[in-house]
Amino acid sequence: MRFEHVLVVGAGQMGGGIAQVVAASGRHVSLHDPLPGAVDRGVAAMRTSLERLAEKGGGDPDETLARVTPVDELVPAELMIEAITEDAPAKEELFRRADELLPAEAILASNTSSIPITSLAAVTRTPERVIGMHFFNPVPVLRLVEVIRAMQTSDETAAAIVELARDLGKEPAEARDFPGFVSNRILMPFINEAAYALMEGVAEAEAIDTIAKLGFAHPLGPLALADLIGLDTCVAIMEVLHRGLGDPKYAPCPLLRQYVQAGRLGRKSGRGFYDYSRS
Ligand code: CAA
Repeated sequence: MRFEHVLVVGAGQMGGGIAQVVAASGRHVSLHDPLPGAVDRGVAAMRTSLERLAEKGGGDPDETLARVTPVDELVPAELMIEAITEDAPAKEELFRRADELLPAEAILASNTSSIPITSLAAVTRTPERVIGMHFFNPVPVLRLVEVIRAMQTSDETAAAIVELARDLGKEPAEARDFPGFVSNRILMPFINEAAYALMEGVAEAEAIDTIAKLGFAHPLGPLALADLIGLDTCVAIMEVLHRGLGDPKYAPCPLLRQYVQAGRLGRKSGRGFYDYSRS
C-alpha cells in the first residue's frame, strides 16, 4: 500500500512533524486540528524545520508545503495518523468518527505514547485496521517509529505500516500493546529515577544530567529531557505504567508530582528542573 493521501489529525509538535515527514516523502497530506490557529502554527513550525533541513541539502520547503492542505473536518484518506492530546475519551471519539468517514479499507493509526491501541481499535467496526505509529520528538530528526500492534491488528496492517515507516526514512521497531509499549517503559523509569536521585540529594540536577550525557553519550540528560517532554506528561505516563503493570516500582516520584502541582511543567511553562524564563 503506497498511501498517496494521508490525513493527519493534530497539528501540534508531533502532528506537525508527522505531516512534514509524510509530505516530504512526496505524499499528499490533509492536516486537521479543531483548535483555532493550530494548523497555521503547525505549518509555520514546519517551514522553520524544512528551511533548516534545506540548508543541509533537504528538499525545497515550498514544494513540500504545497503538498499539505489544511482541512476543517476529517476527510477520506488511505491512512489517518492521529496526534491529538493524550486524552483517551477524545481519541476514542475521533476513532469512532474516522471509522465512519474514512473508506472501509483505510488504516487508522495513533501516535499515542501511552493509551492502549487495543481500546482505540475496539471502538471501530474494523479493529484489524487500527495500529500504533509512535514517532519521536523532533519528528523530522529522530529516526525511530515504534509500531504497536493492538490485540486485534492484522498482519497486513502491521506490514503496511512498517513499510511506510521505512519509506519515510525511519527505522520501525515493533512492540506489543502493553502499558508504555517499549519506549516509555524504558525511558520514564529512567527519568523517574533521576528525579528520585535529585529528591534524595544524591546529586544536583546538572550533575545527574552530565553523568547521562558524558557517561552514556545521551544527547540530553534525563532531567533536561523531562523538561522537554513536560513533567505533567511524565507523571501521566508513570501513572499508566503503575496502573497498568501494577508494580509499585512505577509509582511517580513525589518530587515530579510536586513540580507539576507548582506549575513547573518544564520548557512549556518556563520552568521545570531548569529555568527557561530567559531563553
Ligand atoms: N527540524 C529540523 N532540524 C532540526 C530540528 C527540527 N525540528 N531540531 C534539530 N534539528 C537539527 C539541527 O538543525 C542540527 O543540525 P546540524 O547538526 O546539521 O547543525 C541538529 O538537528 C542538532 O540540533 P542542535 O544542534 O540544535 O542541538 P542538539 O545537538 O542538542 O540536537 C536534538 C537536538 C536532536 C533534539 C537532540 O538534543 C536530541 O536528540 N535530544 C533527545 C530527544 C529525545 O530524546 N526525544 C525523545 C523524546 S520522547 C518522545 O518523543 C516520545 C514520548 O513518548 C514521550
